[in-house]
Amino acid sequence: MWDLLITDAVGGTAIALEGDRIAYVGKEPSQRAAEVLSVEGRLVTPGLVDCHTHLVFGGDRSGEWERRLAGASYEEIAAGGGGIRSTVQATRAATDDELLTGAVRRAAALAAGGVTTIEVKSGYGLDLETELRMLRTARRIPEHVPVDVVTTFLGAHTVPPEFDGDADGYIRFVCDTVLPAVASEGLATAVDGFCERIAFTSEQIDQVFTTATALGLRVKLHADQLSDSGGAALAARHRALSADHLEHASAEGIAAMAAAGTIAVLLPGAAYVLREERVPPVDALRAAGVPIAIATDCNPGTSPLVSMLLAMHLACTRFGLTVDEAIAGATDHAAHALGLHGPMAERPAEIVYWLGANPVHAVIKRGKVVTS
Ligand code: NIG
Ligand code: FE
Repeated sequence: MWDLLITDAVGGTAIALEGDRIAYVGKEPSQRAAEVLSVEGRLVTPGLVDCHTHLVFGGDRSGEWERRLAGASYEEIAAGGGGIRSTVQATRAATDDELLTGAVRRAAALAAGGVTTIEVKSGYGLDLETELRMLRTARRIPEHVPVDVVTTFLGAHTVPPEFDGDADGYIRFVCDTVLPAVASEGLATAVDGFCERIAFTSEQIDQVFTTATALGLRVKLHADQLSDSGGAALAARHRALSADHLEHASAEGIAAMAAAGTIAVLLPGAAYVLREERVPPVDALRAAGVPIAIATDCNPGTSPLVSMLLAMHLACTRFGLTVDEAIAGATDHAAHALGLHGPMAERPAEIVYWLGANPVHAVIKRGKVVTS
């Protein structure tokens, strides 16, 4: 007996679940289930995965948004001590409860729009205590909202005020002190950085990624968002899970991503809010065979967006993705951008390698699904 049977999905399809695994997809079966849910002809999709967010933060930046409406640029505001740094100040000042309440509110909005997995980055603490606090807070979101949370350490987001004029010193602090603490507490599965003329050079990110890899963590990168900073190639060199933004990525960078298996995460919310006219090189990514994912980039500065469906819509209307690409980008490819994938065989050897495990998902004989 199955645990749950979804009946009357589009095309008369039924889907059965055993625990958290799909046990059957096909015509209405005769086998019974403990619970039956009729979806009355609707489409059934996998849960959406938001693979790039900055969901935990203090304060908001609506005032800065008004300044941008009046003509100031994101980079000008950052150079004047605003931008990420103003959220760092508000995040350090916030209590754990305040951080959790805001993050839960945003996670609930994402979940209401079909999201079941959310990646959450640190990066608004930039000191040991607040970075750890952000990651611990992110891990508590599932106590309040039915989502899985995957955490990423983004210490190399910007130079904090106490290291003014000493970006190299800050990177040393991240590598020698903060990253080892994050790793030993098991607070993150990946390490991110912001490689950009207003943030860190590729040499500085290189050090962070080398340290992360030595500690057994995967990496991902905010790459080539405002300028071609060689971010895509840098990410690929470190076998990054993903390179994100990519509006200004070069042809060489894209080729390197394809060879390294790095996913391209497109963030149309940030491009929309910043009124960025340049679109990411979607045709070149397609031609190179780089899988494309989509995420909200939910953050208080450049993307106060709490809907994956809207991110998918913007990816189609502004970046030219097809509907099928948007759905794959918000599910399968987004899961891969987090290093998550189901128990499927990806290499032929996996079928022969396991002793006694059954890798069979479905058997199709003479055009008919005969077992699952
Ligand atoms: O993904 N680019 C860097 N990080 C964020 C923006 C963060 C902020 O402005 O607070 C982004 O767009
Ligand atoms: Fe981001």
